[in-house]
Amino acid sequence: MICRLASIKDVKQGSWYEYSLQTDNGLFSVMLRFDNGVYHGFENSCPHQGRRMDYAAGEFLISETGTIVCPAHGAEFNPNNGLCVNGPCLGESLKPVQVKVNEKDIFAIIE
Ligand code: FES
Repeated sequence: MICRLASIKDVKQGSWYEYSLQTDNGLFSVMLRFDNGVYHGFENSCPHQGRRMDYAAGEFLISETGTIVCPAHGAEFNPNNGLCVNGPCLGESLKPVQVKVNEKDIFAIIE
């Protein structure tokens, strides 16, 4: 299923965004990051216990080294590939979401 996440307006380099999509299986939350011309998409669900990665809607904890930090128990993830590099789920990864972009919109491909 391809879902439209948003229209591209002023996406900022290195920032994280959250989009919730209504799917046939219920609400699906996508974390999106734009970095050097590439969009990285992940399910908004920590592999440790499945908690959301944003501490408030669309608000994420970023460490001084740039890792994204789960607010529940502090697992840290590489922002480019979602690999847990520190914390209770070390070696596990955020589940990637394939992202497609055209001239004005961002889409997520949800399996
Ligand atoms: S649920 Fe994310 S570290 Fe525990």
